[in-house]
Amino acid sequence: MNENGAYVIVGASLAGAKAAEALRAQGFAGPVILIGDETERPYERPPLSKGYLLGSEERDSIYVHAPDWYDEHDVDLRLGTAVTSIDPAAHDVTLADGSRIGYARLLLATGSSPRHLQLPGADLPGVLYLRRVGDSEQIRATFQAASRVVVIGAGWIGLEATAAGRAANVEVTLLEAADLPLLRVLGPEVAQVFADLHSEHGVDARYGAGVAEITAAGGRASGVLLADGTHVAADAVIVGVGIRPNTQLAEAAGLEVRNGIVVDSQLRTSDPDIFAAGDVANAAHPLLGTHIRVEHWANALNQPQVAARAMLGQDVTYDRVPYFYTDQYDLGMEYSGYVEPGGYDQVVFRGDVGKREFIAFWLRSGRVLAGMNVNVWDVNDAIQDLVRAGRPADIGKLADPAVPLEEVARA
Ligand SMILES: Cc1cc2nc3c(=O)[nH]c(=O)nc-3n(C[C@H](O)[C@H](O)[C@H](O)COP(=O)(O)OP(=O)(O)OC[C@H]3O[C@@H](n4cnc5c(N)ncnc54)[C@H](O)[C@@H]3O)c2cc1C
Ligand SMILES: NC(=O)c1ccc[n+]([C@@H]2O[C@H](COP(=O)([O-])OP(=O)(O)OC[C@H]3O[C@@H](n4cnc5c(N)ncnc54)[C@H](O)[C@@H]3O)[C@@H](O)[C@H]2O)c1
Repeated sequence: MNENGAYVIVGASLAGAKAAEALRAQGFAGPVILIGDETERPYERPPLSKGYLLGSEERDSIYVHAPDWYDEHDVDLRLGTAVTSIDPAAHDVTLADGSRIGYARLLLATGSSPRHLQLPGADLPGVLYLRRVGDSEQIRATFQAASRVVVIGAGWIGLEATAAGRAANVEVTLLEAADLPLLRVLGPEVAQVFADLHSEHGVDARYGAGVAEITAAGGRASGVLLADGTHVAADAVIVGVGIRPNTQLAEAAGLEVRNGIVVDSQLRTSDPDIFAAGDVANAAHPLLGTHIRVEHWANALNQPQVAARAMLGQDVTYDRVPYFYTDQYDLGMEYSGYVEPGGYDQVVFRGDVGKREFIAFWLRSGRVLAGMNVNVWDVNDAIQDLVRAGRPADIGKLADPAVPLEEVARA
């Protein structure tokens, strides 16, 4: 065990920065060292595919803390610094320059990285991914210069980038392997709402598309060749085909890794002095009775509160209902709950789906597993109560906007 008692956090993004904040808020007075391989101080990623990409949000607004916050809270922020290995027995981490830092407790908040396409032409200039602030700036510049782009993947990144491209008056062809956008998360009933939304905004969406090759002209991406032989010409290709959790350090250190770093409901890994939070953590969830890895902002915001307290020896568990949101064109929505792909047997709508002002509920055996409010606000607490209730809901009342949701949740 090292003598300096340092609490070391690897990954200086939302989860890492929030963990440092929580340690100080809990009164921890020892050394806190926050190490990140990006050169920017911790920032939030949601604006990178929305306001910041659209040019409506300033750069200053994306950061988790003001520049002085780290000094003021005696947090030793080391940017541009990659951790290359962990030695759990020695209780230290090694940095890229070979130096070592000892820890009493370690938090892994290493997040995730875009999954890259493995296709001919995938590494050409003009093939763009969206994870970091520099990526967002590059895509914004592309939208200003380009007249047509191809977006591969109709998940969250692909759809938000598509909406931003259309707002910049760029022609967008959207290529998705599945039969609808967001199909795995939402199922066909609600995925159709997003398909309609994008086609109404002039997107040339092609579902069930097989991408065979990124073609080149003049050494740059010039379009996409589909498996059926069709060629879609483009000035740039934006790829959002999912992410992979950054588990390499944990794996090499012998920690249990399965779809992320496996942690208990206190966010403790298989090593008692190492914790994990945010995108990288596959956490036991007491409410859901299973491990889940959540790739969303609210999880990276809230898990670190629990991780920090658990690191300090407090008896806490993370059991918040998973939550995320999106903004695309004039559609804003929030989603609370968790449904495994195909894990529901009924979808109940409340409100006007055609006008895109509604709440959708996913149920199994009459129980609400998740709810999504679309352009309907201030219902999130009631939806989370319904998810937490864990008993069959009155379907008639659930579907009837005249019955307050709080009443349905209490029934
Ligand atoms: C463009 C975009 C838009 C999004 N929009 C939304 C949204 O609208 N709503 C929503 O709910 N979610 C959204 N998300 C998801 C959300 O941003 C993530 O869930 C969140 O960023 C996860 O935070 P994290 O701190 O766990 O990981 P990350 O943000 O991935 O940060 C991990 C950090 O650790 C660093 N790191 C990794 N390995 C090492 C190492 N060995 N040494 C040092 N540093 C290391 C990484 O470089 C990175 O800086 C969006 C994501 C993106 C990319
Ligand atoms: N609003 C939000 O919550 C939000 C916004 C942006 C990003 N994010 C997060 O960022 C991460 C990355 O988002 P993402 O959109 O890349 O991942 P995703 O998993 O949401 O979607 C990936 C999509 O790409 C499709 N796909 C995969 N391979 C393909 C191929 N070869 N050709 C065509 N389509 C293919 C998949 O079928 C899927 O629809 C996710 O964790 C997501 O939760 C969240």
